[in-house]
Amino acid sequence: MDAAQKLPPWRPLLIAALKREGRLPGGRWVQLASLGIDGCPRVRTLVFRDWSAAATMDLLTDARSEKCLEIERTPEVELCWLFRKAREQFRLRGTARLIAPTGDVVALNQEWKRLSPPGRSVWAWPPPGDPFDPQGPWPQEVSDDSAMPEHLRLLRISLHRIEQLDLKPHPHVRRLWLSATQWQEQRINP
Ligand SMILES: Cc1cc2nc3c(=O)[nH]c(=O)nc-3n(C[C@H](O)[C@H](O)[C@H](O)COP(=O)(O)O)c2cc1C
Repeated sequence: MDAAQKLPPWRPLLIAALKREGRLPGGRWVQLASLGIDGCPRVRTLVFRDWSAAATMDLLTDARSEKCLEIERTPEVELCWLFRKAREQFRLRGTARLIAPTGDVVALNQEWKRLSPPGRSVWAWPPPGDPFDPQGPWPQEVSDDSAMPEHLRLLRISLHRIEQLDLKPHPHVRRLWLSATQWQEQRINP
């Protein structure tokens, strides 16, 4: 691994906390906060999908959802990732980019194939946030060989500020890393 790809010091801590969650699906749920078009905060849950670089994480979303408009306007986002078993919280700030199938068809196709048939179905539903129409369509599954929808988006977040709060020791441990200081660790009060 070359220097550019060397893992930042917070990554092993995050990986260890994630490992303690075991197979619980909730271990990969992150809360994504963005700035609403009206200037007020918005937050929602997304599934963490993968790391695409040492400090870059990939999520998946739907181009038709409100958050995409918000992120295009204000790409600065914050994620909160809670690890219940480890009793640790990570707050991650970064700059988000939305990647369409025309932008990186290989990465998106890989993520699309990796989804389960029920996991894929939400992208076959009518636009999120529209008034509910029971006619749908509301498929429960989308098969492995289905073409990826054009509104699938990779939400790629380049992280620049990470904070960890570990409730296990006394006193609690709170640490901060900034990419601007080469991820040098700072201990701050909990
Ligand atoms: C457990 C859980 C996981 C979710 N995962 C995703 C996801 O990976 N991508 C996504 O776009 N929405 C996901 N959602 C739905 C979002 O939380 C949100 O309701 C939806 O994206 C619309 O958000 P918006 O109106 O703020 O754009 C998930 C919801 C839950 C409860």
